[in-house]
Amino acid sequence: MSEFTLRLRRYDPQSGEPPYWESHTIELEPHRSVLEGILQARGRFDGSIGIRCSCRSAICGSCGVRINGQPGLACHTHLDEALERSSDGMISVEPMGNMPVIRDLIVDMDAVHWKKIQAVTPWLLAREPVPEREYLVDREAMVDVTQSMACIQCGACVSDCLAMEVDPDFIGPAALAKSYRFVGDPRDSEHTERLTALSEDPHGLYTCTHCFKCVDACPKGVNPMGQIMRLRRIAGSDHHIEDRNNGYRHEHAFVDNVRRNGLLHEADLLPDSYGGKFNPRAVPELIASMPVALRGLLRGKITLRKALTHPHKASKELRAIFERIESKPERYELNLYVSGTDEDNEPNEPAPAEAIA
Ligand code: SF4
Ligand code: SF4
Ligand code: FES
Repeated sequence: MSEFTLRLRRYDPQSGEPPYWESHTIELEPHRSVLEGILQARGRFDGSIGIRCSCRSAICGSCGVRINGQPGLACHTHLDEALERSSDGMISVEPMGNMPVIRDLIVDMDAVHWKKIQAVTPWLLAREPVPEREYLVDREAMVDVTQSMACIQCGACVSDCLAMEVDPDFIGPAALAKSYRFVGDPRDSEHTERLTALSEDPHGLYTCTHCFKCVDACPKGVNPMGQIMRLRRIAGSDHHIEDRNNGYRHEHAFVDNVRRNGLLHEADLLPDSYGGKFNPRAVPELIASMPVALRGLLRGKITLRKALTHPHKASKELRAIFERIESKPERYELNLYVSGTDEDNEPNEPAPAEAIA
């Protein structure tokens, strides 16, 4: 047995009092979970500590919290590991972010997470005609959606999403990963409709800023950002959806910009996104970006010389990389989630490639 000090964030919105921290020392074996520590504190010291849990085995997704500032499952985090990551010898536990607190460590998943999941039609819209028996689907296609199917709806990715912090209406990483689960499923009949809705939504597919936070936060390796990028590639390259938010063209502007300049030349990005010339639709975006541009000028991060000249040029090597990628007859994606050997293989036969597109 070892002693651990838990620092719990307490808050009852109905009390009218602000949140506060409360510490409890618990005694447990170091390999036991943070959830067990919280439950011990609740049993021994204060029965009013609010925490949601059920399976205690990282399956139900109900015990999502922030431990030492990082989102995760309380039942899937060992006390000794949590202590190692602490900066002050205490294990801090607080509710997840981006969702309103109901009480203490319990957040309102209905108000944010589940509302967004519902918005993406989270069920299969079966292709017609429905076969008398089962649909026959390539094994690779089903393996491809396995990663998004591993989601346990814990909300850890939502808690840490930077885009959602700025735009609470952003559909978010969990709902978009859920959407890929059906867009990647050949039995679903509404791929185009799903992708069009997500692309045209001003808080949809193109709001993600590639910050990787959801990738790090996910306890199940779902890689929500990876699923979002796949949705974008399928929407743009396979379904040719050019959304009115200019997300599709903005994304391609990045590629063309780097292809031309070798490095990203930000001053060109806005005109590139609007076809390289003046476009009245760019004006509101230009006006909105003025305060940031002015701050950049004042701090010396942007200079007029840098903005007007193009100091970099794409090297021969970079151009060769672009040519090589673009000459491929078909897109090839790596699904790194699925690994290991195929048990159907002969013992000495080389394992199949882990990449499944
Ligand atoms: S990568 Fe995108 S979806 Fe994931 S946390 Fe960042 S902004 Fe949100
Ligand atoms: S994608 Fe991962 S972090 Fe997000 S809800 Fe699903 S399991 Fe939780
Ligand atoms: S209690 Fe079910 S995931 Fe933690």
